[in-house]
Amino acid sequence: MGMAKDLSTHVGIIGAGPAGLLLSHLLHLHGIQSILIEAQTREHCETRVRAGVLEQGTVDLLNEAGAGERMRREGLIHHGIELRFNRRGHRLDLHQLTNGRAITVYAQHEVVKDLVALRFDAGGRIVFQAGQVQFHDIASSSPRITFQHGGEAYEISCDFIAGCDGFHGISRNSIPGGAVRFYEKAYPFAWLGILAEVPPASNELIYSNHERGFALSSMRTPTISRLYLQCDPHEDLAVWSDSRIWEELHRRFETVDSFRLNQGPILQKGITSMRSFVADPMQYSRLFLAGDAAHIVPPTGAKGLNLAAADVYVLARAFDSWYRSGNSALLDRYSETCLRRVWRVQHFSWWMTSMFHRFPEGDEFDHRRQLAELGNIASSRAAATYLAENYTGLPFDLPEELAQTSWPTHSL
Ligand code: APR
Ligand code: PHB
Repeated sequence: MGMAKDLSTHVGIIGAGPAGLLLSHLLHLHGIQSILIEAQTREHCETRVRAGVLEQGTVDLLNEAGAGERMRREGLIHHGIELRFNRRGHRLDLHQLTNGRAITVYAQHEVVKDLVALRFDAGGRIVFQAGQVQFHDIASSSPRITFQHGGEAYEISCDFIAGCDGFHGISRNSIPGGAVRFYEKAYPFAWLGILAEVPPASNELIYSNHERGFALSSMRTPTISRLYLQCDPHEDLAVWSDSRIWEELHRRFETVDSFRLNQGPILQKGITSMRSFVADPMQYSRLFLAGDAAHIVPPTGAKGLNLAAADVYVLARAFDSWYRSGNSALLDRYSETCLRRVWRVQHFSWWMTSMFHRFPEGDEFDHRRQLAELGNIASSRAAATYLAENYTGLPFDLPEELAQTSWPTHSL
């Protein structure tokens, strides 16, 4: 590889998802350089259909990073959600229950578009369509990344590597066996998701517990609905015609007072598998994992993107401290700081999942127990507050000595 073109930077970042892009921009705001390496094309990253619910803390962080302009114009602020069970709806007033917090509905790929544009405007370096990405000397103080691009070989020398390459990336598996432990749970169901060209049936999201299985009504814009149905994990999309999907959705959202979903052309459909996964620690020597590379949550709480944002918030501050003063204390505690929040969010996502889905081994006892639990949330302010605090988002955790007792603001 003597022919490789040599590049150098402070932090080499792998993956142009929300984690890698936001990290790269936060580092830039701290005066720290990075090069971001992405396997796919820019177009692929900017059009991938993913979730679309941003916690208050994620919205605040994007705004403070200067990435919030279009989100403020086009994002839909929701002050509540509906829990539907026993064929009745129960609204949770998130805003009131959390002293003024809310969620914003804004598609993940729109966040990605905004961050890519912001990086290029600021002269940021992103290499799309990079092949054969490999790490070298990650246990030394000068790790290197090699990759191919446009028929040429490149080598980046850096101080640190940030592995933001998602669940199927290479970063996590570059850590030697024995240096990291994985915790994992697979669920015996999946979600069939559609985008439909039709105004959502309600202004707010509806989470429905139905004896035929969970269903969720969400949206992307006032004219585009996003709907999900619990299905078999090995479900074949080919057996789900558009009319069968609508028929099943109608059944799972039906109420005693003749609620009707709006029906329209289906623009896109796909299956999302459901798992919980945590890598501990999220660091090996000079390699730091962030986002889906380190953890996966089932989509029921819409937490994936928000966890990624919380990780890179912590990581950017830790790099800032290291570059400013040579102090590695925050970097050393990166994993511990993130994992405190990650496990709480794991619990919330698992809890929401367990409360709404029909489990294949479940029986009528389990269904009645779920209905009782949902009944508690609908009638107890304490239980509703617990759900609302977690749904709108826990504080982006800080190391203990910097932790604040009230909701922190994200001063950069
Ligand atoms: N080399 C370079 N890039 C890679 C490689 C590789 N070997 N492997 C994967 N990537 C890229 C992927 O193409 C993708 O663009 O890394 C990126 C990872 O992005 P995401 O999967 O979006 O992960 P993350 O940024 O952590 O965002 C978390 O994304 O998966 C959703 O539900 C999840 O909402 C959550 C969010
Ligand atoms: C979505 O709009 O894609 C969405 C919303 C809420 C969830 C999961 C996904 O819990």
